[in-house]
Amino acid sequence: MKIVAATRNNGKIKELQAILSDLDIEIVSQAEAGIDIEVEETGDTFEKNALIKAKSVSMLCDDPVIADDSGLCVEALGGAPGVYSARYAGENASDEEKNNKILAELGETKNRKAKFVCVTALVFPDGYEVTATGETYGSITYEPHGEKGFGYDPIFYSDDLKKTFADADDNEKNKVSHRARALQALYEKLKTITDK
Ligand code: IMP
Repeated sequence: MKIVAATRNNGKIKELQAILSDLDIEIVSQAEAGIDIEVEETGDTFEKNALIKAKSVSMLCDDPVIADDSGLCVEALGGAPGVYSARYAGENASDEEKNNKILAELGETKNRKAKFVCVTALVFPDGYEVTATGETYGSITYEPHGEKGFGYDPIFYSDDLKKTFADADDNEKNKVSHRARALQALYEKLKTITDK
């Protein structure tokens, strides 16, 4: 089965290929499928946004389409930045500015619990939809640490890895990340479907 990935992010495509490699599935990027659209994420949940992205690309091709939406949720900030993670400090803000905004908002707050959430959606040409969620838990540091990764990685101290995601290499992060867990959950659901 061929699946089109509704993303321009090559890192996400590599992760998809690695995790779904033992299923009989070929992942093709949106660009390789000749689809050049930028989808606006207008939903107020990760699931809605993942489905918006998958359905928008699905309307333009005849193959199943996979998409995901993810973000950071900080308990003491009422779950913010959540679905607004990408643009939390404004449209053109750098990762550093976004991280500093969260650190400033938390100040010396003792409750620094946080999680990354990812919802993956797979939409078939007949309209059938499957979604799966993955979460990974940790806390917000008092200052950024580490040079690897992207986004909020330098301020997210992972409970699993006992270091920030920005101090972890790709291999380590991919074992415990919200995205890997969402894909694993989707994989389990797909296995049940393809086994039937
Ligand atoms: P999207 O899922 O591509 O819309 O990404 C949402 C935003 O959440 C990204 O721009 C990052 O700011 C943040 N984010 C999602 N996953 C991660 C991660 O694994 N590390 C750091 N930041 C992330």
